[in-house]
Amino acid sequence: MEIAKLNFKDFRNYRNLTLELNPKVNIFIGDNAQGKTNLLEGIYLSSLGKSFRTSKDTEMIRFEAPFFRVEVTALKDGERLTVEIALSEDQKAIKIDGVKALKSSELLQHIYTVIFSPEDLKIVKDEPEKRRRFIDREISLLKPSYLRNLASYKKALAQRNALLKEKKVKDDALEVWDKSLSNYAEPIITDREEYVKKLEEICSKIHYDLSEGKEDLRIIYERGMEGNLYEALKHSIRIDRLRGTTTKGPHRDDLKLLVNGKDLRSFGSQGQQRTAALALKLSELKLIKEETKEEGILLLDDVLSELDSRRQKYLINTLKDVQVFITSAELSEELKSMLSKGNVYKVTQGEVVLQND
Ligand SMILES: Nc1ncnc2c1ncn2[C@@H]1O[C@H](COP(=O)(O)OP(=O)(O)OP(=O)(O)O)[C@@H](O)[C@H]1O
Ligand SMILES: [Mg+2]
Repeated sequence: MEIAKLNFKDFRNYRNLTLELNPKVNIFIGDNAQGKTNLLEGIYLSSLGKSFRTSKDTEMIRFEAPFFRVEVTALKDGERLTVEIALSEDQKAIKIDGVKALKSSELLQHIYTVIFSPEDLKIVKDEPEKRRRFIDREISLLKPSYLRNLASYKKALAQRNALLKEKKVKDDALEVWDKSLSNYAEPIITDREEYVKKLEEICSKIHYDLSEGKEDLRIIYERGMEGNLYEALKHSIRIDRLRGTTTKGPHRDDLKLLVNGKDLRSFGSQGQQRTAALALKLSELKLIKEETKEEGILLLDDVLSELDSRRQKYLINTLKDVQVFITSAELSEELKSMLSKGNVYKVTQGEVVLQND
């Protein structure tokens, strides 16, 4: 699959952008704050219906404008696919091949993208929430039922937490939420465990190669509880009431990343953490291919320059079959080496100009 064309109207700092793309390599060069990341954000939006850097959709509407529209035309086995997302203060409308979608989730499973940006180091370094969000997005992309379960789980969780904060509420009143939480939790945990197992298998191979055989990466799904959630909720009721929040459940689970048996989060060097983040992202791409038979599209935001030249080469070599979008402040030697099969564009204040010669 490849993206052939973009049309942005009042999206971030783009007033009107129409851009034809190269089926393999697209490199966007520009100074700070010109719109490079915004461009990748628009592409990502066409895949998941959400931004990778804000949860407030309306932030993406150009300042002063009433709405934005992002239209992405892709080619899938030679057939055209058009995805359109329009958003105003109070409305979000999605069209797929001109047909209005009833739910945002209909967008999923059309265009598959993987973004790798400096922010992704946080998956390795930061608190569990970042890792949960990482796997939640990945699994959602591959399995819409996961997204639905997760949304229902979160709703039930919010209800239970609200009740826990009320002193007068009896334990019995929580019963209905304990039941529905444990019902939704079951498939969520199963899907996560299954995904993490596949992820680990692929990721440890990539990490091994990237570290020239020096490092063994393990990824473990860590459950914050034993056995059945319903029982666990019953057991933790006192603590939950005291804290006014639900302390057990998949919203508390984590991924543990171990390099040569040591926790990467606490003991990994910057370089090791970067290698692991890169390996995770490349695994994502590979899993998309394995699960859907589609090639995902790789978005590399400002990350090449952060990698040493061996890792850059590894990355570039693995990109033979996928379409890639790369942003960078300048055209490095490594980037130049990719140019024979791609386009280079200059981004200046929301305008993009092709600069192939
Ligand atoms: N909703 C919006 N409307 C108009 N402009 C916006 C909006 N959101 C962000 N911008 C502008 O977009 C610019 C940032 O764009 P972007 O993040 O794509 O920069 P960049 O080219 O990736 O820069 P860097 O190299 O620093 O990462 C900023 O000038 C910001 O003010
Ligand atoms: Mg940027």
